[in-house]
Amino acid sequence: MSRGQNEQRCGRFITLEGGEGVGKTTNVGFVCDWLTARGIEVVRTREPGGTPGAEAIRELLLDPEREERWSDDAELLLVFAARAQHLATCIRPALARGAWVVCDRFTDATFAYQGGGRGLDPDRIETLETLVQQGLQPDLTLLLDLPVGAAAQRVDRRGAARDRFERERHAFFEAVRQTYLARADAQSRFAVIDASPSLEGVQQSLSNTLAQRVGAWL
Ligand code: TMP
Repeated sequence: MSRGQNEQRCGRFITLEGGEGVGKTTNVGFVCDWLTARGIEVVRTREPGGTPGAEAIRELLLDPEREERWSDDAELLLVFAARAQHLATCIRPALARGAWVVCDRFTDATFAYQGGGRGLDPDRIETLETLVQQGLQPDLTLLLDLPVGAAAQRVDRRGAARDRFERERHAFFEAVRQTYLARADAQSRFAVIDASPSLEGVQQSLSNTLAQRVGAWL
């Protein structure tokens, strides 16, 4: 049971995770369309962000031109400040009225990036997770997995300006990937999707997984 203590909610909470270049954003749209086609009210959102205040924090976090580098702790607290606001004003109200929430990244990204990538102690992340989420966890987490080299080539091909995280090195992203995979191995709410095939192939896997995991809730 992934619901928070004493929490009234009937909507489901689905998150998509993965490193840079795995095709997350396109596939969030695919998941939303799949659910909408089955008559489900879907709220599509993302982290960091999802509310005006949390989007402002996102800007602070991703801006590559900042002169003052965030300390690792400040970065962690900013991520959770954005999350607290997002939960209070978007995610919890949507779930409470019965809508399903599909979120592009959530706290698994904090374990992967701030924990795996930056090397912060996962116990400290768990302390903030408990404080901010009070037991609320995603019902299903779709992890799009791709080797770091292949993902980097996709980011290169995209050609857009790189944000502060996208400028990190190979070892950072290797740690991000391994942290995600270890969490997926340990928790049954995860489904790992191989993101190396064509978009069509990835979406076929997503459809199969959704039919199996979400089908049981309908
Ligand atoms: P996006 O590019 O997938 O929209 O995500 C923005 C960046 O924020 C991405 O590089 C991962 C990073 N991030 C963290 O470092 N910690 C977090 O908790 C979240 C949600 C995102």
